Amino acid sequence: MTYEQAKQLLEEKGQLQLLQYYDELSCEQKKTLLDAIAAINWEFEDALANPTDMTGKGRDIRPISGLRYAEIERRKAEFETIGVDAIKAGKVAAVLLAGGMGTRLGVDGPKGAYDIGITKPLYIFEQQMRNLQDVTKKCGVVVPLYIMTSDKNHEQTTAFWKEHGYFGYDEKDVKFFKQEMAPAVDYDGKIILERKDLPALSPNGNGGWFSSLKKAGLVEDLHARGVEWLNIYAVDNVLQRITDPVFIGATIESGVNCGAKAIFKTIPTEKVGVLCMDGDKPDIIEYYELTEEMANQRDENGDLVYSYGVIMNYLFRLSKLEEVEGKKIPVHIVEKKIECLCADGVTRKPEKENGKKFEALAVDLIKLMGSVLPYEVVREKEFAPIKNKTGVDSVESARELLKMNGVEL
Ligand code: UTP
Repeated sequence: MTYEQAKQLLEEKGQLQLLQYYDELSCEQKKTLLDAIAAINWEFEDALANPTDMTGKGRDIRPISGLRYAEIERRKAEFETIGVDAIKAGKVAAVLLAGGMGTRLGVDGPKGAYDIGITKPLYIFEQQMRNLQDVTKKCGVVVPLYIMTSDKNHEQTTAFWKEHGYFGYDEKDVKFFKQEMAPAVDYDGKIILERKDLPALSPNGNGGWFSSLKKAGLVEDLHARGVEWLNIYAVDNVLQRITDPVFIGATIESGVNCGAKAIFKTIPTEKVGVLCMDGDKPDIIEYYELTEEMANQRDENGDLVYSYGVIMNYLFRLSKLEEVEGKKIPVHIVEKKIECLCADGVTRKPEKENGKKFEALAVDLIKLMGSVLPYEVVREKEFAPIKNKTGVDSVESARELLKMNGVEL
Protein backbone atom coordinates (compact mmCIF):
# COMPACT_ATOMS: atom_id res chain seq x y z
CA MET A 1 0.00 0.00 0.00
CA THR A 2 1.33 3.45 -0.88
CA TYR A 3 1.10 6.50 1.39
CA GLU A 4 -1.57 8.02 -0.89
CA GLN A 5 -3.68 4.85 -0.78
CA ALA A 6 -3.38 4.68 3.01
CA LYS A 7 -4.31 8.34 3.35
CA GLN A 8 -7.37 7.94 1.17
CA LEU A 9 -8.52 4.81 3.00
CA LEU A 10 -8.02 6.34 6.45
CA GLU A 11 -9.74 9.55 5.42
CA GLU A 12 -12.79 7.53 4.40
CA LYS A 13 -12.66 5.57 7.64
CA GLY A 14 -12.08 8.62 9.86
CA GLN A 15 -8.79 7.11 11.13
CA LEU A 16 -6.19 9.59 9.82
CA GLN A 17 -4.54 9.76 13.26
CA LEU A 18 -2.65 6.60 12.27
CA LEU A 19 -0.55 8.71 9.89
CA GLN A 20 0.15 11.59 12.28
CA TYR A 21 3.85 10.68 12.78
CA TYR A 22 4.44 9.47 9.22
CA ASP A 23 6.87 12.27 8.32
CA GLU A 24 9.08 11.47 11.33
CA LEU A 25 9.52 7.81 10.38
CA SER A 26 12.47 6.09 8.68
CA CYS A 27 11.84 4.32 5.35
CA GLU A 28 11.64 0.98 7.12
CA GLN A 29 9.19 2.30 9.73
CA LYS A 30 7.04 3.85 6.99
CA LYS A 31 6.80 0.44 5.36
CA THR A 32 5.92 -1.21 8.69
CA LEU A 33 3.10 1.27 9.22
CA LEU A 34 1.72 1.04 5.67
CA ASP A 35 1.79 -2.78 5.81
CA ALA A 36 -0.03 -2.71 9.15
CA ILE A 37 -2.68 -0.35 7.77
CA ALA A 38 -3.16 -2.58 4.73
CA ALA A 39 -3.67 -5.59 7.00
CA ILE A 40 -6.31 -3.98 9.25
CA ASN A 41 -9.46 -6.06 9.48
CA TRP A 42 -12.30 -3.53 9.41
CA GLU A 43 -14.94 -5.90 10.81
CA PHE A 44 -14.68 -4.01 14.10
CA GLU A 45 -16.52 -1.05 12.54
CA ASP A 46 -19.66 -3.11 12.20
CA ALA A 47 -19.30 -4.43 15.76
CA LEU A 48 -18.97 -0.85 17.04
CA ALA A 49 -21.87 0.49 14.99
CA ASN A 50 -24.22 -2.43 15.72
CA PRO A 51 -23.18 -3.97 19.02
CA THR A 52 -24.91 -7.29 19.64
CA ASP A 53 -27.06 -7.35 22.75
CA MET A 54 -25.89 -10.46 24.52
CA THR A 55 -27.71 -10.03 27.81
CA GLY A 56 -30.38 -12.53 26.88
CA LYS A 57 -33.02 -9.78 26.61
CA GLY A 58 -35.46 -10.44 23.79
CA ARG A 59 -34.18 -13.96 23.41
CA ASP A 60 -35.88 -17.15 24.47
CA ILE A 61 -33.38 -18.11 27.17
CA ARG A 62 -34.22 -21.20 29.17
CA PRO A 63 -32.35 -23.57 31.45
CA ILE A 64 -30.62 -26.60 29.96
CA SER A 65 -30.43 -30.09 31.34
CA GLY A 66 -27.17 -31.96 31.52
CA LEU A 67 -25.27 -34.82 33.04
CA ARG A 68 -24.82 -34.46 36.79
CA TYR A 69 -21.80 -35.90 38.55
CA ALA A 70 -23.71 -38.70 40.35
CA GLU A 71 -25.01 -40.01 37.04
CA ILE A 72 -21.55 -39.85 35.49
CA GLU A 73 -20.14 -41.86 38.40
CA ARG A 74 -22.89 -44.45 38.02
CA ARG A 75 -22.17 -44.92 34.30
CA LYS A 76 -18.42 -44.31 34.48
CA ALA A 77 -17.26 -47.74 33.22
CA GLU A 78 -19.60 -47.59 30.23
CA PHE A 79 -18.48 -44.06 29.22
CA GLU A 80 -14.83 -44.78 29.84
CA THR A 81 -14.82 -47.80 27.52
CA ILE A 82 -16.31 -45.72 24.69
CA GLY A 83 -13.83 -42.88 25.30
CA VAL A 84 -10.76 -45.12 25.53
CA ASP A 85 -11.78 -46.91 22.32
CA ALA A 86 -12.11 -43.56 20.49
CA ILE A 87 -8.71 -42.39 21.73
CA LYS A 88 -7.04 -45.69 20.85
CA ALA A 89 -8.57 -45.48 17.37
CA GLY A 90 -6.90 -42.05 16.91
CA LYS A 91 -10.23 -40.24 16.73
CA VAL A 92 -9.39 -37.58 19.31
CA ALA A 93 -7.04 -34.57 19.16
CA ALA A 94 -6.35 -31.82 21.69
CA VAL A 95 -6.33 -28.11 20.87
CA LEU A 96 -4.79 -25.68 23.33
CA LEU A 97 -5.97 -22.10 22.99
CA ALA A 98 -2.96 -20.09 24.08
CA GLY A 99 -3.21 -16.93 22.01
CA GLY A 100 -4.41 -14.73 24.89
CA MET A 101 -2.41 -11.89 26.37
CA GLY A 102 -2.86 -12.83 30.04
CA THR A 103 -3.10 -9.15 30.93
CA ARG A 104 -4.64 -9.82 34.35
CA LEU A 105 -1.72 -12.05 35.34
CA GLY A 106 0.51 -9.26 34.11
CA VAL A 107 3.61 -11.17 33.09
CA ASP A 108 5.61 -10.79 29.93
CA GLY A 109 5.56 -13.74 27.59
CA PRO A 110 3.14 -16.62 27.15
CA LYS A 111 0.96 -17.42 30.16
CA GLY A 112 1.74 -21.12 29.81
CA ALA A 113 5.43 -20.40 30.40
CA TYR A 114 4.61 -19.05 33.86
CA ASP A 115 6.37 -20.98 36.63
CA ILE A 116 3.89 -21.97 39.32
CA GLY A 117 6.41 -24.11 41.20
CA ILE A 118 7.57 -23.29 44.74
CA THR A 119 10.58 -25.51 45.47
CA LYS A 120 11.22 -26.42 41.81
CA PRO A 121 10.04 -25.06 38.48
CA LEU A 122 6.64 -26.22 37.26
CA TYR A 123 5.38 -24.40 34.19
CA ILE A 124 1.69 -24.19 33.39
CA PHE A 125 2.28 -25.88 30.01
CA GLU A 126 4.22 -28.63 31.79
CA GLN A 127 1.48 -29.34 34.32
CA GLN A 128 -1.13 -29.50 31.57
CA MET A 129 1.05 -31.89 29.57
CA ARG A 130 1.33 -34.15 32.61
CA ASN A 131 -2.47 -34.22 32.74
CA LEU A 132 -2.68 -35.07 29.05
CA GLN A 133 -0.02 -37.74 29.39
CA ASP A 134 -2.01 -39.47 32.15
CA VAL A 135 -4.43 -40.31 29.36
CA THR A 136 -1.96 -41.08 26.59
CA LYS A 137 -0.08 -43.48 28.89
CA LYS A 138 -3.27 -45.17 29.97
CA CYS A 139 -4.45 -45.59 26.37
CA GLY A 140 -1.02 -46.43 24.96
CA VAL A 141 -1.35 -43.94 22.07
CA VAL A 142 -0.35 -40.37 21.32
CA VAL A 143 -3.08 -37.74 21.17
CA PRO A 144 -1.95 -35.07 18.66
CA LEU A 145 -1.79 -31.59 20.08
CA TYR A 146 -2.47 -28.32 18.23
CA ILE A 147 -1.54 -25.07 19.93
CA MET A 148 -2.99 -21.70 19.00
CA THR A 149 -0.73 -18.69 19.53
CA SER A 150 -0.89 -15.09 18.35
CA ASP A 151 1.55 -12.61 16.81
CA LYS A 152 2.18 -11.38 20.35
CA ASN A 153 3.51 -14.67 21.71
CA HIS A 154 4.17 -17.09 18.83
CA GLU A 155 7.96 -16.92 18.75
CA GLN A 156 8.28 -17.13 22.53
CA THR A 157 5.80 -20.00 22.78
CA THR A 158 7.37 -22.15 20.08
CA ALA A 159 10.87 -21.49 21.46
CA PHE A 160 9.71 -22.44 24.98
CA TRP A 161 8.24 -25.75 23.85
CA LYS A 162 11.39 -26.58 21.87
CA GLU A 163 13.61 -25.68 24.81
CA HIS A 164 11.59 -28.00 27.05
CA GLY A 165 11.64 -30.93 24.64
CA TYR A 166 7.90 -30.59 23.94
CA PHE A 167 7.28 -31.78 27.50
CA GLY A 168 7.75 -35.41 26.59
CA TYR A 169 5.90 -35.30 23.27
CA ASP A 170 7.42 -35.93 19.88
CA GLU A 171 7.89 -32.70 17.94
CA LYS A 172 5.82 -34.08 15.06
CA ASP A 173 2.79 -34.47 17.33
CA VAL A 174 2.74 -30.82 18.42
CA LYS A 175 1.66 -28.28 15.79
CA PHE A 176 1.41 -24.54 16.33
CA PHE A 177 -0.88 -22.16 14.47
CA LYS A 178 -1.50 -18.44 14.78
CA GLN A 179 -4.81 -16.70 15.39
CA GLU A 180 -5.75 -13.38 13.82
CA MET A 181 -5.37 -9.89 15.27
CA ALA A 182 -7.88 -7.03 15.55
CA PRO A 183 -7.27 -3.31 16.12
CA ALA A 184 -7.99 -1.72 19.51
CA VAL A 185 -9.82 1.61 19.63
CA ASP A 186 -10.22 4.45 22.12
CA TYR A 187 -13.60 5.56 23.48
CA ASP A 188 -14.18 7.65 20.32
CA GLY A 189 -13.71 4.64 18.09
CA LYS A 190 -10.28 5.81 16.89
CA ILE A 191 -7.67 3.10 16.40
CA ILE A 192 -5.00 3.50 19.07
CA LEU A 193 -1.36 3.90 18.07
CA GLU A 194 0.97 1.62 19.99
CA ARG A 195 4.07 3.08 18.39
CA LYS A 196 4.54 5.82 15.83
CA ASP A 197 4.76 3.11 13.18
CA LEU A 198 2.26 0.62 14.59
CA PRO A 199 -1.47 0.57 15.35
CA ALA A 200 -2.44 -1.27 18.55
CA LEU A 201 -3.37 -4.78 17.47
CA SER A 202 -4.44 -7.55 19.78
CA PRO A 203 -5.53 -11.17 19.45
CA ASN A 204 -9.12 -11.25 18.20
CA GLY A 205 -10.43 -13.60 20.90
CA ASN A 206 -10.49 -17.37 21.08
CA GLY A 207 -13.61 -17.77 18.90
CA GLY A 208 -11.80 -17.93 15.59
CA TRP A 209 -9.67 -20.91 16.56
CA PHE A 210 -11.18 -23.33 14.03
CA SER A 211 -10.90 -20.89 11.11
CA SER A 212 -7.28 -20.23 12.07
CA LEU A 213 -6.58 -23.96 12.34
CA LYS A 214 -8.06 -24.37 8.88
CA LYS A 215 -6.13 -21.44 7.41
CA ALA A 216 -2.94 -23.02 8.72
CA GLY A 217 -3.76 -26.16 6.69
CA LEU A 218 -4.11 -28.28 9.82
CA VAL A 219 -7.59 -29.62 9.14
CA GLU A 220 -5.99 -31.77 6.42
CA ASP A 221 -3.61 -33.00 9.07
CA LEU A 222 -6.55 -33.95 11.30
CA HIS A 223 -8.18 -35.86 8.44
CA ALA A 224 -4.94 -37.62 7.57
CA ARG A 225 -4.78 -38.83 11.17
CA GLY A 226 -8.43 -39.92 11.22
CA VAL A 227 -9.42 -37.43 13.92
CA GLU A 228 -13.17 -36.99 14.52
CA TRP A 229 -13.27 -35.09 17.83
CA LEU A 230 -11.37 -32.03 19.06
CA ASN A 231 -10.93 -31.33 22.76
CA ILE A 232 -10.24 -27.63 23.10
CA TYR A 233 -8.98 -26.21 26.38
CA ALA A 234 -7.65 -23.02 27.94
CA VAL A 235 -4.09 -22.47 28.99
CA ASP A 236 -4.92 -21.16 32.42
CA ASN A 237 -6.52 -24.11 34.17
CA VAL A 238 -3.77 -26.25 35.68
CA LEU A 239 -6.18 -28.97 36.81
CA GLN A 240 -7.57 -29.26 33.29
CA ARG A 241 -8.26 -32.91 32.42
CA ILE A 242 -7.47 -33.13 28.73
CA THR A 243 -9.05 -35.80 26.51
CA ASP A 244 -10.68 -37.30 29.58
CA PRO A 245 -11.97 -40.69 28.34
CA VAL A 246 -15.13 -40.60 30.51
CA PHE A 247 -16.09 -37.17 29.15
CA ILE A 248 -15.35 -38.25 25.59
CA GLY A 249 -17.36 -41.44 26.02
CA ALA A 250 -20.34 -39.60 27.52
CA THR A 251 -20.35 -37.06 24.69
CA ILE A 252 -20.11 -39.69 21.96
CA GLU A 253 -22.74 -41.87 23.62
CA SER A 254 -25.23 -39.01 23.90
CA GLY A 255 -25.10 -38.38 20.14
CA VAL A 256 -24.52 -34.61 20.46
CA ASN A 257 -22.08 -32.49 18.44
CA CYS A 258 -20.38 -31.03 21.48
CA GLY A 259 -19.61 -31.83 25.10
CA ALA A 260 -18.96 -29.03 27.60
CA LYS A 261 -17.29 -29.62 30.93
CA ALA A 262 -18.94 -27.50 33.59
CA ILE A 263 -18.83 -26.83 37.29
CA PHE A 264 -22.13 -26.66 39.12
CA LYS A 265 -22.50 -23.01 40.08
CA THR A 266 -23.59 -22.33 43.63
CA ILE A 267 -22.85 -18.61 43.93
CA PRO A 268 -24.80 -16.31 41.56
CA THR A 269 -21.91 -13.89 41.11
CA GLU A 270 -19.32 -16.48 40.12
CA LYS A 271 -17.40 -15.39 37.03
CA VAL A 272 -18.08 -18.25 34.65
CA GLY A 273 -20.25 -18.32 31.54
CA VAL A 274 -23.35 -20.51 31.90
CA LEU A 275 -24.92 -23.01 29.53
CA CYS A 276 -28.53 -22.46 28.57
CA MET A 277 -31.01 -22.98 25.74
CA ASP A 278 -31.95 -20.16 23.40
CA GLY A 279 -35.16 -21.47 21.86
CA ASP A 280 -34.21 -24.90 20.57
CA LYS A 281 -30.46 -24.16 20.38
CA PRO A 282 -27.88 -24.54 23.14
CA ASP A 283 -25.99 -21.42 24.05
CA ILE A 284 -23.68 -19.87 26.65
CA ILE A 285 -24.13 -16.53 28.32
CA GLU A 286 -20.98 -14.92 29.66
CA TYR A 287 -21.02 -13.96 33.35
CA TYR A 288 -20.86 -10.24 32.57
CA GLU A 289 -23.76 -10.58 30.16
CA LEU A 290 -26.09 -12.47 32.52
CA THR A 291 -28.87 -10.33 34.01
CA GLU A 292 -29.00 -10.20 37.80
CA GLU A 293 -32.43 -11.80 37.78
CA MET A 294 -31.24 -14.78 35.75
CA ALA A 295 -28.08 -15.17 37.80
CA ASN A 296 -30.16 -15.42 41.00
CA GLN A 297 -33.03 -17.58 39.74
CA ARG A 298 -33.37 -20.87 41.68
CA ASP A 299 -35.40 -24.06 41.14
CA GLU A 300 -37.60 -25.92 43.63
CA ASN A 301 -34.51 -27.63 45.13
CA GLY A 302 -32.85 -24.31 45.75
CA ASP A 303 -30.26 -24.91 42.99
CA LEU A 304 -29.42 -22.06 40.63
CA VAL A 305 -31.40 -22.49 37.43
CA TYR A 306 -28.44 -21.39 35.30
CA SER A 307 -25.96 -23.62 37.04
CA TYR A 308 -23.69 -25.24 34.46
CA GLY A 309 -20.69 -22.91 34.51
CA VAL A 310 -18.33 -23.64 31.64
CA ILE A 311 -14.61 -24.08 32.28
CA MET A 312 -13.39 -23.80 28.70
CA ASN A 313 -13.04 -27.50 28.07
CA TYR A 314 -15.14 -28.61 25.12
CA LEU A 315 -15.25 -31.63 22.87
CA PHE A 316 -16.28 -30.67 19.34
CA ARG A 317 -17.31 -33.00 16.54
CA LEU A 318 -14.98 -32.16 13.65
CA SER A 319 -17.55 -32.76 10.87
CA LYS A 320 -19.95 -30.27 12.51
CA LEU A 321 -17.20 -27.67 12.90
CA GLU A 322 -16.45 -27.98 9.21
CA GLU A 323 -20.13 -27.67 8.35
CA VAL A 324 -20.59 -24.39 10.27
CA GLU A 325 -17.16 -22.89 9.54
CA GLY A 326 -17.48 -19.38 8.16
CA LYS A 327 -20.86 -18.72 9.81
CA LYS A 328 -20.93 -15.43 11.66
CA ILE A 329 -20.51 -15.38 15.42
CA PRO A 330 -20.94 -12.21 17.51
CA VAL A 331 -18.04 -9.88 18.18
CA HIS A 332 -17.80 -8.95 21.87
CA ILE A 333 -16.52 -5.51 22.79
CA VAL A 334 -14.32 -5.56 25.87
CA GLU A 335 -12.83 -2.60 27.72
CA LYS A 336 -9.14 -3.18 28.41
CA LYS A 337 -5.89 -1.50 29.32
CA ILE A 338 -4.28 -1.03 25.93
CA GLU A 339 -0.59 -0.22 25.51
CA CYS A 340 -0.42 3.10 23.75
CA LEU A 341 1.92 5.80 22.61
CA CYS A 342 1.88 8.57 25.21
CA ALA A 343 2.33 12.30 24.58
CA ASP A 344 6.05 12.03 25.48
CA GLY A 345 6.57 9.49 22.67
CA VAL A 346 6.93 6.51 25.02
CA THR A 347 4.71 3.39 24.81
CA ARG A 348 3.09 2.51 28.14
CA LYS A 349 0.35 0.33 29.56
CA PRO A 350 -2.15 2.62 31.30
CA GLU A 351 -3.23 2.19 34.93
CA LYS A 352 -6.87 1.85 33.97
CA GLU A 353 -8.92 0.85 30.94
CA ASN A 354 -8.38 3.22 28.04
CA GLY A 355 -10.17 1.60 25.15
CA LYS A 356 -11.92 -1.32 23.57
CA LYS A 357 -10.86 -4.59 22.02
CA PHE A 358 -12.91 -6.81 19.77
CA GLU A 359 -13.13 -10.48 20.48
CA ALA A 360 -14.99 -13.45 19.09
CA LEU A 361 -15.44 -16.07 21.78
CA ALA A 362 -15.28 -19.85 21.61
CA VAL A 363 -18.43 -19.99 23.76
CA ASP A 364 -20.42 -18.63 20.84
CA LEU A 365 -19.61 -21.68 18.75
CA ILE A 366 -21.88 -23.74 21.00
CA LYS A 367 -25.00 -22.38 19.36
CA LEU A 368 -23.71 -23.31 15.92
CA MET A 369 -23.06 -26.85 17.09
CA GLY A 370 -26.82 -27.34 17.53
CA SER A 371 -26.58 -29.80 20.42
CA VAL A 372 -24.47 -29.90 23.55
CA LEU A 373 -23.99 -32.13 26.56
CA PRO A 374 -23.38 -30.14 29.78
CA TYR A 375 -21.10 -32.43 31.81
CA GLU A 376 -20.57 -31.73 35.49
CA VAL A 377 -17.08 -32.04 36.93
CA VAL A 378 -15.90 -31.76 40.52
CA ARG A 379 -14.68 -28.23 40.86
CA GLU A 380 -11.85 -28.97 43.33
CA LYS A 381 -10.48 -31.69 41.05
CA GLU A 382 -10.71 -30.00 37.66
CA PHE A 383 -10.90 -26.25 37.99
CA ALA A 384 -7.91 -24.20 39.07
CA PRO A 385 -7.88 -21.18 36.76
CA ILE A 386 -4.99 -18.75 36.87
CA LYS A 387 -6.28 -15.34 35.86
CA ASN A 388 -4.65 -13.13 38.51
CA LYS A 389 -1.47 -13.14 40.57
CA THR A 390 -3.23 -13.15 43.93
CA GLY A 391 -6.75 -13.58 45.31
CA VAL A 392 -9.57 -15.23 43.39
CA ASP A 393 -8.57 -17.45 40.42
CA SER A 394 -4.92 -16.75 40.99
CA VAL A 395 -1.50 -18.35 41.14
CA GLU A 396 -2.07 -18.64 44.92
CA SER A 397 -5.47 -20.36 44.68
CA ALA A 398 -4.27 -22.66 41.90
CA ARG A 399 -1.27 -23.73 43.98
CA GLU A 400 -3.54 -24.66 46.89
CA LEU A 401 -5.75 -26.70 44.56
CA LEU A 402 -2.76 -28.43 42.98
CA LYS A 403 -1.48 -29.39 46.43
CA MET A 404 -4.94 -30.72 47.37
CA ASN A 405 -4.71 -32.92 44.29
CA GLY A 406 -1.34 -34.33 45.28
CA VAL A 407 0.85 -32.28 42.94
CA GLU A 408 4.26 -31.52 44.47
CA LEU A 409 5.24 -27.91 44.14
P1 UTP B 1 -8.97 -15.22 28.76
O1 UTP B 1 -10.32 -14.85 28.45
O2 UTP B 1 -8.63 -15.51 30.18
O3 UTP B 1 -7.98 -14.12 28.18
O4 UTP B 1 -8.59 -16.47 27.87
P2 UTP B 1 -6.43 -13.88 28.34
O5 UTP B 1 -6.06 -13.00 27.19
O6 UTP B 1 -5.64 -15.14 28.46
O7 UTP B 1 -6.27 -13.12 29.72
P3 UTP B 1 -6.63 -11.60 30.10
O8 UTP B 1 -8.10 -11.47 29.92
O9 UTP B 1 -5.84 -10.74 29.15
O10 UTP B 1 -6.17 -11.49 31.51
C1 UTP B 1 -9.12 -17.75 28.04
C2 UTP B 1 -8.33 -18.68 27.13
O11 UTP B 1 -8.47 -18.31 25.76
C3 UTP B 1 -7.21 -18.05 25.18
C4 UTP B 1 -6.29 -17.75 26.36
O12 UTP B 1 -4.94 -17.98 25.99
C5 UTP B 1 -6.83 -18.69 27.40
O13 UTP B 1 -6.36 -20.01 27.18
N1 UTP B 1 -7.31 -16.91 24.26
C6 UTP B 1 -7.86 -15.74 24.67
C7 UTP B 1 -6.84 -17.05 22.99
O14 UTP B 1 -6.32 -18.14 22.61
N2 UTP B 1 -6.94 -15.98 22.14
C8 UTP B 1 -7.48 -14.80 22.51
O15 UTP B 1 -7.53 -13.86 21.69
C9 UTP B 1 -7.96 -14.68 23.82
